Amino acid sequence: MSCSGVDSQTKVCAVIGRPVAHSLSPLLHNTAFFYYGLNWVYLAFEVENLKGAIEGVRGFGVKGLNVTIPYKTDVLAYLDGLDMLAEKIGAVNTIVNHSGHLKGYNTDAQGFLKVLSKEGIDPRGEGFIILGAGGAARAISFALAQSGARLSVLNRTPERALELSRKLEEEFGRPVPALELNIDNLKFALDNAAVIVNTTSRGMSPDVEGTPVPGELLRPGLTVLDIVYSPLKTRLLREAEAAGAKVVGGLDMLVYQAGLSFELWTGLKAPLEVMMAQGRNFLEPKKLERKNSLALTGFMGAGKSSVARLVSSMLGKELRSTDGLVEEAAQKPILRIFSEDGEAYFRELEMRAVKEVLEGDNLVIDCGGGVVLNQLNILNLKKKAHIFYLKAGLDTCLKRAEREVRPLLGHDPGEVFRLFSLREPLYEEAADVVIETSGLSPEEVARKVAKEYESLS
Ligand SMILES: NC(=O)c1ccc[n+]([C@@H]2O[C@H](COP(=O)([O-])OP(=O)(O)OC[C@H]3O[C@@H](n4cnc5c(N)ncnc54)[C@H](OP(=O)(O)O)[C@@H]3O)[C@@H](O)[C@H]2O)c1
Repeated sequence: MSCSGVDSQTKVCAVIGRPVAHSLSPLLHNTAFFYYGLNWVYLAFEVENLKGAIEGVRGFGVKGLNVTIPYKTDVLAYLDGLDMLAEKIGAVNTIVNHSGHLKGYNTDAQGFLKVLSKEGIDPRGEGFIILGAGGAARAISFALAQSGARLSVLNRTPERALELSRKLEEEFGRPVPALELNIDNLKFALDNAAVIVNTTSRGMSPDVEGTPVPGELLRPGLTVLDIVYSPLKTRLLREAEAAGAKVVGGLDMLVYQAGLSFELWTGLKAPLEVMMAQGRNFLEPKKLERKNSLALTGFMGAGKSSVARLVSSMLGKELRSTDGLVEEAAQKPILRIFSEDGEAYFRELEMRAVKEVLEGDNLVIDCGGGVVLNQLNILNLKKKAHIFYLKAGLDTCLKRAEREVRPLLGHDPGEVFRLFSLREPLYEEAADVVIETSGLSPEEVARKVAKEYESLS
């Protein structure tokens, strides 16, 4: 792999649609590729010419695609095969390229069913009100009807609600009332249903004060699912929660449908917990809360341990080291953990060490050089600490570390360069503050860190 992590072997997946600039899919999928150390990358393409884009998928050997608004239905015309559910729904959000044979799937439907299962909601015989009649409504209502739910569809444009209800009635042989989305029809539908699913884009950022259901209709005993995920808690969900209803936001469905696509492309189990944490971190309103701890990251030899000791005494904070905790837990030095138990075991202990450190308060945390390899570590650290990257060139790191034997380095300069290239962008990305350390003594670096920390707090 090259310094950027992309090289001539890199496999490509992408989302196509219009617009795609705000899609969260690249973040979720690249997180999952990174989790497994796959040499895969996920991109977003704003597409004007759908036919040309699909030809490009075949021509370039793109491994997989997600398809979003407005192409979920139009894309069917260009595929070689369809999964049964996608065919019934008439919409595709995932394409798998099997050596030039493009097969379409719909993971929105299954993703939604996984949300119900997680929330302990059994759709069989349950009354659901579907708000909206667009692409997502179609996938969700088919999945629900197939699971034996009773449905009614309410949409701003009643003709589209009717069109969807006809399809459902034809397929499942049960009546599906179709109504215009207004207060009287909502009251009527609520007499026969305990679950509302919002699939309209009402309430989606920037329309954050918009809601498809007037607050006075919400009551205890209702369950309200909103598939809008930005903001994480829409006005509909806030008002439903205040009225005593059970509420479920759209991030879970987003991650589940992404996870199912990932599994179709790679055959690996999607790291849902990490994808969820990454999505939540991205969408959560950033609180400017004061953090009274700081964590030092950087490549081996960057001077973290000496600087951490000095900063701890300068700021009067307790010093904790993740490597120290790992050694305590394993009852042996890190070198031996690597040689006897392997790196994967070390990383597992390291992840536990980060969690354990964060049970404390008012700390200077000396992080092991590879802490940044696991995004959960970074997300956890960021909850309580400002992250400082002690940046130094490879030459400096090697000079500083030359008397120490480091588990991953050995004596192979090519391996050292590879590791450095791989990790440097991760340090940069995780950092709240980057401290240039080349040419500075540990005391000078520590003073810089302490000064920057004081200005943040
Ligand atoms: N969480 C997830 O995994 C996930 C997955 C897919 C979609 N989504 C979200 O679901 C929403 C809909 O996606 P989609 O693919 O179904 O889009 P779509 O096909 O364009 O459908 C949009 C739906 O929203 C309705 N709508 C739009 N503006 C409205 C307004 N001001 N008042 C009332 N209704 C309005 C439309 O009604 P008309 O028919 O009257 O135009 C239509 O029913 C988007 O916010 C999308 O981000 C989330």
